[in-house]
This record gives sequence, structure tokens and C-alpha cells, in this order.
Amino acid sequence: MRIKIENLNQVYKNGNHALKDLNLEIPDGMFGLLGPNGAGKSSLMRILVTLMKPSSGKITMDGLDLFKNRKEIRSMLGYLPQDFRFFASLKTSEFLDYAARLAGMKRSKQRNEAVDKMLEEVGLFEVRDRKANKLSGGMKRRLGIAQALINDPKLIIVDEPTTGLDPEERIRFRNLLSTVSAKDATIILSTHIVGDISSTCENMALLNQGQLAFTGSPEDLIKKAEGNVWQIKATEKEYLEINDKYPVISTVPADYGWEIQVVAEDIDGYYGEKIAPNLEHAYVHFMENSLNQWTQG
Ligand SMILES: Nc1ncnc2c1ncn2[C@@H]1O[C@H](COP(=O)(O)OP(=O)(O)OP(=O)(O)O)[C@@H](O)[C@H]1O
Ligand SMILES: [Mg+2]
Repeated sequence: MRIKIENLNQVYKNGNHALKDLNLEIPDGMFGLLGPNGAGKSSLMRILVTLMKPSSGKITMDGLDLFKNRKEIRSMLGYLPQDFRFFASLKTSEFLDYAARLAGMKRSKQRNEAVDKMLEEVGLFEVRDRKANKLSGGMKRRLGIAQALINDPKLIIVDEPTTGLDPEERIRFRNLLSTVSAKDATIILSTHIVGDISSTCENMALLNQGQLAFTGSPEDLIKKAEGNVWQIKATEKEYLEINDKYPVISTVPADYGWEIQVVAEDIDGYYGEKIAPNLEHAYVHFMENSLNQWTQG
């Protein structure tokens, strides 16, 4: 499913301008939405799943106007909200059955099959009779994704799905989403964890204070940071100065003091060399620059 967002604005009742003239195209496949706290990721997602009407703007999905074809588009959607909660009284399998009903699966035989298959896929079959609110954090997240996938959606929107997961669960989660996106669905994944994007998403957008700071592939983003990352050998005293001047990405103790990585165009005479950027460096580079642009413009 291809999504086109034009001149989107979201102003909340209290005056918070969460999205500012956003123009963005989201192609098929796995799409990463990256940005710091308050960037507008959840606001955008709530609009895309038709839970909230934006202040202004236009959105089409495969050419269909989102606001004129709300019902039709909703039946093709799966959504995992950032603050997903369960109904305490339901067992894991009952909860999933309930989600399937909500998604419009009317026949109980079809529903039972779908529920069992999904429990297997997310590794919750063994705990299907346990109350949903008694599951571990990682299991709850998996149940969350299961309810979003139960109706075989064409568009899946997951808001910060890996928060609080241990590294193994996180990898599992990413792989699960990758297999789903291979079934020609579009997945939009929001995160402020750079590593979640680099390992799975072909395309991405970087949001900052409600504005689009970048869109393209993660590789494009990295390319744009080339020449702006330095590894510096610093004494104790220099380290304090450098820390005031530039964004420091990493610090490793060395016999002369510290070996540090910074994002900067130039390092005014400190002893160091340019190194190849990774996505984390590129992220910092872009956030710094987009903020500078706005404050100067
Ligand atoms: N219901 C609301 N009423 C008023 N302001 C809101 C509301 N929801 C969000 N905002 C504001 O809109 C801006 C964007 O918030 P949003 O939750 O979309 O960001 P986010 O990128 O999802 O952040 P996070 O990474 O912390 O989840 C913030 O300034 C936030 O305070
Ligand atoms: Mg959010």
C-alpha cells in the first residue's frame, strides 16, 4: 500500500503544533519513522489509522482518500498503539479472538484457525490459557503485534514496538515484522532507537519538532553525514572543552586520556581523524543541522 501525505498539520486544542506542513510518501515494504520524544510520531500514526482527524492536510492510500474512505481503509489496517493495554479478565487466546472479532472476522471457525496460527507465529501458543495481563513484558508486546496482524492487514502501524524489550526479544520482533512485510504489506514502525531502523527498514523518515528533517533510505542518511564524524585523541582537559563544543557520540578511556567520537564539520586543531559514519552518527548530524537551520531561518 502506497501512502501519500500532503501539507499535513496537527494543532492540539492546547495550541501544541505537533505536525507542521508535513509532506511525505511512504512506499511498500518496511518504513521507519525515527525521531526524538515529542517529534510527532504518535500523532502522525493516530491520524493514519483514522483515530484522529488532522487540523488540515490530505492523505491518500493507494489513491483512496483516507477521510472519504475511512471504513474501507480501516478494514485493511493493523495498529499497535504505543500505550497498548489489555483487558485484564481475558485469557491470551480469548483476547486475540476478541481482536479478530473487532477486525470484522465473523465466522468462528475461521477465527479459531486464525487465532491458533497467530499464537504459534508469535510464540504464545504454550501460554494461550494464561490471563493476558499476567504475561511478561516481552510476551505482552508479542500479543500486541498479534492483535495487529490477526486480520492479515495491508498496512500495519506499530508505535515504538521494541521499547522495554531485551536484545533477543527485539531481534525476534524485527524478524517477525520482516516476514510479514515480505507478504506485500506496508509496515510503518516508529522508534527512537536507531538500531531498529538500520537493520530492517528500506526507507525511513526523520521527524524533528513536527517537521520532516529527512526522508530516503538509511544508506542515504549515512552518506549525508560523511566527512562530519571525527575520532579524537584527547587529554583529560581537552575532553572537557570538546564536550562543551560538539556532540560527543562515544568515549573510550586511553592511556593519554580519552578516545572520543564527535559529530562536527571541523575540530579546530584537536588531534584526530575523520571516520566513516554509522546511522547513529548520521542521526545526530541531521538533528543538529535541522535544528540550526530552523533557528537561523
Ligand atoms: N493529546 C494531546 N494534546 C496536546 N498535545 C499533545 C497531545 N498528544 C501529543 N501532544 C504534543 O504533540 C507533540 C508530539 O507528540 P507525539 O506524542 O506525537 O510525539 P512522539 O514523537 O510520539 O514522541 P515520543 O517519542 O515521546 O512517543 C508533543 O509536543 C506532545 O506534547
Ligand atoms: Mg510516541
